[in-house]
Amino acid sequence: MDILPLRIRYPSLVTDAPTDQLIVTIDGPAGSGKSTLARQLAKLLGVDFLDTGAMYRGLAAKAIERGIDIVEEPYYVVELARNCPLHFDWANDPPRLYVRDTDMTDRLRDMDVSNAVSDVAKLGGVRQVLVENQRRIGREHPRLVTEGRDQGSVVFPAAQVKFYLDANPAVRAQRRADQLKQMGKPANVEAIRRNILERDHKDAARADGPLICPDDATRIDTSAMTLDEVLDELHRHVKEKAKVGV
Ligand code: DC
Repeated sequence: MDILPLRIRYPSLVTDAPTDQLIVTIDGPAGSGKSTLARQLAKLLGVDFLDTGAMYRGLAAKAIERGIDIVEEPYYVVELARNCPLHFDWANDPPRLYVRDTDMTDRLRDMDVSNAVSDVAKLGGVRQVLVENQRRIGREHPRLVTEGRDQGSVVFPAAQVKFYLDANPAVRAQRRADQLKQMGKPANVEAIRRNILERDHKDAARADGPLICPDDATRIDTSAMTLDEVLDELHRHVKEKAKVGV
């Protein structure tokens, strides 16, 4: 007689995942409104918010601080990713990002970091470390809105709700410029537009975790929508699709 316990015979039917888990992924290109919307959606749902772009930016900022030539010395960047743990201080809203013990949060949106970050994000060794770090965060914060380029496709393929946000490049550049101005930082819209187009290309062309719209994601073009309109739409979808109370 077959006396194997159910858990061993059918491992996929019995998981240790918390039953109230809710992972919402938001992917899309730079300036599509992901960060702001992910943060507001998380607040509305009463769950945590993960900005994965901040992790790639934090590493780029650290590489610049260490004087590493990111294009010529990619192995040093991978070493940095392996040896300088990244972590968020979740007591702050939004959480502040530490690379080892240094708070890098105020450096993340600076133009030198924005210009360098795609070359950091295309490194397979870096992605391996950060994807693993993001999955660990997902286990520790099982109710999470997470945003990036590969959250629905690679990091959390089983997420309950997936979105892909897009907008035309001129709108995205203006949004990024407004964001920088609000932070009291210099903002040249044309330079930002060129940076965004270059990053779009690099993000979509790389072999590891390229920017794609997952088949099971809801795609929203936010070009002509206000923030509140997009937020309403996201919230409506989550309520419809989530298998847990929100
Ligand atoms: O969303 P953002 O502009 O802060 O992202 C910064 C860079 O990091 C961007 O060029 C793409 C990269 N990125 C990535 O490759 N994968 C992610 N999950 C998040 C960001």
